[in-house]
Amino acid sequence: MKEGMGKVAVAAAVIGAAAVVGVAALVVRQRMKSSGRWARAMAIVKEFEEKCGTPDIKLKQVADAMTVEMHAGLASEGGSKLKMLISYVDNLPKGDEEGVFYALDLGGTNFRVLRVQLGGKAGGIVHQEFTEASIPPALMGGTSDALFDYIAEKLAKFVAEEEQKFHQPPGRQRELGFTFSFPVMQTSINSGTLIRWTKGFSISDAVGQDVVAELTKALQRKGVEMRVAALVNDTIGTLAGGRYTNKDVAVSIILGTGTNAAYVERAQAIPKWHGPLPKTGEMVINMEWGNFRSLHLPLTEYDHAMDVESLNPGEQIFEKMTSGMYLGEILRRVLLKIAEEAAFFGDEVPAKLKISFILRTPDMSAMHHDTSSDLRVVGQKLKDVLEISNTSLKKRRIVVKLCNIVTARGARLAAAGVLGVLKKMGLDSLKEPEKTVVAMDGGLFEHYAEYRGCLENTLRELVGEETASSIVVEHSNDGSGIGAALLAASHSLYLKDKS
Ligand code: GLC
Repeated sequence: MKEGMGKVAVAAAVIGAAAVVGVAALVVRQRMKSSGRWARAMAIVKEFEEKCGTPDIKLKQVADAMTVEMHAGLASEGGSKLKMLISYVDNLPKGDEEGVFYALDLGGTNFRVLRVQLGGKAGGIVHQEFTEASIPPALMGGTSDALFDYIAEKLAKFVAEEEQKFHQPPGRQRELGFTFSFPVMQTSINSGTLIRWTKGFSISDAVGQDVVAELTKALQRKGVEMRVAALVNDTIGTLAGGRYTNKDVAVSIILGTGTNAAYVERAQAIPKWHGPLPKTGEMVINMEWGNFRSLHLPLTEYDHAMDVESLNPGEQIFEKMTSGMYLGEILRRVLLKIAEEAAFFGDEVPAKLKISFILRTPDMSAMHHDTSSDLRVVGQKLKDVLEISNTSLKKRRIVVKLCNIVTARGARLAAAGVLGVLKKMGLDSLKEPEKTVVAMDGGLFEHYAEYRGCLENTLRELVGEETASSIVVEHSNDGSGIGAALLAASHSLYLKDKS
């Protein structure tokens, strides 16, 4: 019996030892597996970082390519990926604009309706108010009538609430500046046809239509009496709004949902301009730089995949690398890759991570700016947005690193774009540098501090210390709406009555 028990005990001990060995082996295997996974994830991150590299020399090539494309786009219609659209604005605000004007600002996730009272010479902006609404996603892919009706309705409501003191004098119609931030081939200051949609809009029956005619019809349907006096891109509005407060503004850049630039060009330097030379000799150009593309752009597999799956494949490549609509999506794609190929978030790939555009740039920005020692915000965002819980600090750090890679590439490329524009204007190498103000606006620039800081530093680095002191980057808050109102004022039907 005793002996038997001894045997059992030995057997148990053997089994126990085997189990310990087994568990130990499992732990080791698990560790090896997880360290193998970690190594794999790090390899993917490293490769991504390398592919996104933007050393100064590359940025200068990008800037030069931008300058070359600007020349080509000005020379002939279709001469470049850059449309270099003529805005019909040859006269930027001077400060003597007067009266009550409306503005409609459509072009991103939100749209705004504004009422602005301009005080004439030295009067400045006496009063401004606005209302904002988001565009229901269904309208972004519906019909032209549905979109314009929706806008006209909001405008009708806003007008109906107008205080008596803002009423127009008898016999005078209300006038509106329409900021429509998509590529438009203008035929005059207040007419132009939509070339194509960008930024996730895809309303096919609007392409090729006169935007002002579409809006005017919708205003009539909704019973709003209003004349569209100016049709402008947001870059043009920002340039106009910026110039109103600072006469040195000569370039404007939008970094928001999309990205674009406008600048003041000598009319004679626009071979494709066949109109009479403006008295001022100048013409503001809407570059549509979002569509810039060059072999020097550091594109990755993630950019290619995002582009192929987008509503506008092959188009807006620069925009897809630099603007707010896309930065979060690029990050999501890299996170998905490390989840799939290196089980970065556990054995199961988190389902939410597979949903395109679920990770928005504001969420990415919140993670990027997390200053807590345990990266609490990163953990919370991963949980709230992607339903990924229990991430280690080490993993959160990688997420922040990825935010930084994507953002730095975007901001540095945007800075290179600005340098390209300055070069075209001849401002990068003047012996006696003129003070030039670049008016910037857009949610990305305004709210993503890391992006903005990186852009400003890079631009300073690229133009060199000497020139940097004469190039000022200024945030032109909400310039585009006010700018549209100002341009409506300077193109008012009643202007002659006053003089
Ligand atoms: C897109 C539009 C452009 C606009 C920019 C910024 O690139 O095509 O017209 O200016 O976004 O909103």
